Amino acid sequence: MSKYLVTGGAGFIGANFLLNVVENHKDDQFVCVDKLTYAANLSNLDPIMNEPNFKFVKGDICDVFKMYRLFKKEKFDYVINFAAETSVDKSFKLITPFFRTNVYGVKVLVRLSRRFKVKRFHQASTDEVYGSVNSITSDVSFWEDDTPAPSNPYAESKRRAEVFLLHYGRNHRKFDYTISRSSNCYGRFQYKDKLIPKTIDAIRRKQDITVYGDGSNIRDWLSVDTNCEAIDFIVRHGEKNEIYNISEHNLYSNLEIVKTICNKFNYPEEKIKFVKDRKRHDLKYSMKTVKLRKLGFATQRDFAKEFDRFLEEEKNKKLPTE
Ligand SMILES: NC(=O)c1ccc[n+]([C@@H]2O[C@H](COP(=O)([O-])OP(=O)(O)OC[C@H]3O[C@@H](n4cnc5c(N)ncnc54)[C@H](O)[C@@H]3O)[C@@H](O)[C@H]2O)c1
Repeated sequence: MSKYLVTGGAGFIGANFLLNVVENHKDDQFVCVDKLTYAANLSNLDPIMNEPNFKFVKGDICDVFKMYRLFKKEKFDYVINFAAETSVDKSFKLITPFFRTNVYGVKVLVRLSRRFKVKRFHQASTDEVYGSVNSITSDVSFWEDDTPAPSNPYAESKRRAEVFLLHYGRNHRKFDYTISRSSNCYGRFQYKDKLIPKTIDAIRRKQDITVYGDGSNIRDWLSVDTNCEAIDFIVRHGEKNEIYNISEHNLYSNLEIVKTICNKFNYPEEKIKFVKDRKRHDLKYSMKTVKLRKLGFATQRDFAKEFDRFLEEEKNKKLPTE
């Protein structure tokens, strides 16, 4: 039996992760800490709320005293940190919460993990730390050893947490951490300020769909299920103090994604409106995943089928107002 602390578990990826592991690892115990910011939805966790191997605690990872008491009481074996401020647009407007949660919050969790002899600390990081491939037509993909060059405040805060971990691992030889750099996830529970849920929400409201610039920016789309499986795999089998890219190599432009959604929902493409581009908008993200495959993780998911299945579910979803 192992005990896990999963932070940010009422958000998009954390909730998908918990629903899977709580059901499938009945011998393990899971405690979720979440501050319940605007991006959280506690009802995502309804199916597991009464499971004997699950407990929810409302809390802020930056609250040192609360976290100290929790670590002392629960004696975690593993800590998986999903808690973060994640909106790139918001990070340009108000940077403080990003550095508070995404950097200081990580420091709090890391120090307590060492203090209470956690076996492994896992940090959910992002492909955005690499910054952009320098042209849309370039076939460059980033390796884990490439030098990060984050280009927005959100990505910068995620990179600073990584740097803190790298130094901490060097200074405290017994401390064990892993880092995953995931590409853009899609799937259930994502907050509606992100491209896919934002587009679906606009369609449901019969409104215009806004797309930054000319929509040609390319993202590497990853099923949230694959991401959660890969993170679970890295926590269990990853090498000490290593970084792993997670991607399914599904490179599509924002406009292609939006048009696919319109097509699925039979919504006219004329409703797509191009708006002033985001500041320093990264052109393209792309990563190599040789290291994760060498570790033994492989995914079979076919993007076209999987994305269509997800859109079908969204189309058939009963909304609270209906
Ligand atoms: N969504 C993606 O495509 C993607 C890709 C790569 C990496 N990531 C990383 O994965 C993690 C999860 O992303 P997500 O999309 O699920 O984010 P999200 O915004 O949907 O959820 C974040 C969760 O963290 C909680 N939280 C925020 N500040 C907190 C604090 N101070 N204390 C406790 N809880 C707090 C929020 O309430 C929310 O439930 C993040 O670290 C993000 O950087 C996400």
